[in-house]
Amino acid sequence: MQGLARPLPKRFKLTSLPTPIEELDRLGERIGVRLYVKRDDLLSLGLGGNKVRKLEYLVGDAIEKGCKMLATSGAVHSNHARLTAAAAAKAGMKAFLALWGSGEEGEQGNLLLDDILGADIKIVEDREEAERLVEEVEGDCVYRIPPGGASVIGALGYLQAAVEIASQEDESGISFDYMVIPTGTGATLAGLLAGSVLMGGRWKLIGFDVGFEGGKVVEDVEGLARGVLDELGVCADIHGYRVLDASYGGYGVISRRVIDAILSAARTEGLILDPVYTGKALAGFEDAVASGDIEGGSSVLFVHTGGIPILFQYSKRVVKLK
Ligand SMILES: Cc1ncc(COP(=O)(O)O)c(C=O)c1O
Repeated sequence: MQGLARPLPKRFKLTSLPTPIEELDRLGERIGVRLYVKRDDLLSLGLGGNKVRKLEYLVGDAIEKGCKMLATSGAVHSNHARLTAAAAAKAGMKAFLALWGSGEEGEQGNLLLDDILGADIKIVEDREEAERLVEEVEGDCVYRIPPGGASVIGALGYLQAAVEIASQEDESGISFDYMVIPTGTGATLAGLLAGSVLMGGRWKLIGFDVGFEGGKVVEDVEGLARGVLDELGVCADIHGYRVLDASYGGYGVISRRVIDAILSAARTEGLILDPVYTGKALAGFEDAVASGDIEGGSSVLFVHTGGIPILFQYSKRVVKLK
């Protein structure tokens, strides 16, 4: 990338890149936009998803520091936890996962995969307790990763993705007015935003907040994007993004509106979304076009951030609402 005062930190290869961009003409026609999808659900490590790109930089950093264990926390359905376990396996490290939630669904979806991937798993009731367990875990140089991989180092994975998308635009001759991003901790949006700013404000970015940070995500996005630019020695104004609410009842709550969006993507495009992140982002996006918040007829890239194992973890609730 041009114009950087400092090179990007070391990255540990966990997947093949680039992921494809595909047109979703039937779904786009239904919504009233020209719609494309960035298939980051197809990132090849451990069933894919956005955390793979973040973990390439986080594991690179852990190796630089001589660490032998990755430790993180998340909900029992956490994609980030599953992919931390997968990344640790691939890098020859141990994984410690402190997961919060009732665990009433049993060993299904991501929780089943965490176990198959060989992680040491502790399930507790609340988020604070899980985060405390990560602080307290002992081992030979433990590399502690914040929930969702939300650090400046993690967000660099999506700076790299922004460069990848820009070169796919240049090769194909398609240009996107908007980029639509499922948003939890905000690190994916922050990385893409830093990339867009570096390329002169290339896209209008819209994060659909699924409620993970209880409404405080905007500050986090701003802080992480600023941190990424600082890391690279770049001084630039942060602009060109909005965060819209797509919590539909709260983080992890599965609502009928979201199931409708999942059915819509599946039945027009054969595209599978999940009920906690990508399904909520699609519902939020459809509602934003309907209300005029996003202009009809625009060219839009929907970033598919993965998460499909959650569909199986909560299959009973999904079936009830479908
Ligand atoms: C499938 C999926 N999409 C989106 C997100 C949100 O990404 P971020 O935390 O970077 O905002 C997550 C995070 O857990 C996720 O698992």
